[in-house]
Amino acid sequence: MKIYRYMKLTKEEKKLLIKAKDEPDWYSICDDIKDRRNGIYPNYLAREILQIYQNKFPVDKYKDWAILESQLDRKSFLGWLSIGWLAFVGATGGFFTAMIRFLFPNVLFEPPQSFKIGFPNDFESGKVDLRFKKTHNVWIVRDDEKIIALSTVCTHLGCTPNWIETDRKFKCPCHGSGFRSSGINFEGPAPRPLERYKIVMANDGQILVDKTKKFNYEKGEWGRSESFLKV
Ligand code: FES
Repeated sequence: MKIYRYMKLTKEEKKLLIKAKDEPDWYSICDDIKDRRNGIYPNYLAREILQIYQNKFPVDKYKDWAILESQLDRKSFLGWLSIGWLAFVGATGGFFTAMIRFLFPNVLFEPPQSFKIGFPNDFESGKVDLRFKKTHNVWIVRDDEKIIALSTVCTHLGCTPNWIETDRKFKCPCHGSGFRSSGINFEGPAPRPLERYKIVMANDGQILVDKTKKFNYEKGEWGRSESFLKV
């Protein structure tokens, strides 16, 4: 007996079912169909068989096999046609996408690494300023003596922590690392403090942050002049 890899009814099986003489004949054909699929009878196969059954019993609506056969052939032809059409659309779509990408290569528009954030008085002492978190991935923190620019990248695996004002800490949502407003890590798996960026006063009196220059606590760089701005 031929074993079918695919579950859907073949045209021959449909023909056999439609031509079944009576219900006992119908059920023996169904058994054969099942056997060909190693006894597997999934829902969509059952649905297909049920559909034919409902047209067959109690009143047989499949009067003219010749008409039905031509319909089945047409259906399968259209099926192949649509598969062919989809393949064609996929292939040409891929080709044109590649062409367009070639003509307009990927350009990543990143915010500038060096930017002005305003005047020292725009920042309140004891506050963590969140205004540049989204646009530049930087927190600006001011205390009584200085202003610092902290990186928003968690030193564990790179998630973005949130500032929790009530607890006065940055809390990373990924694995729970906690950082003080100074950037020092004190809980969770983060192995080192947040990084600080270069922060200086520009000629016009505004504060300039430069992300191309980083200062790491563990390397003893937080004491360097450009790692904080004295106020
Ligand atoms: S990435 Fe922040 S704790 Fe893991």
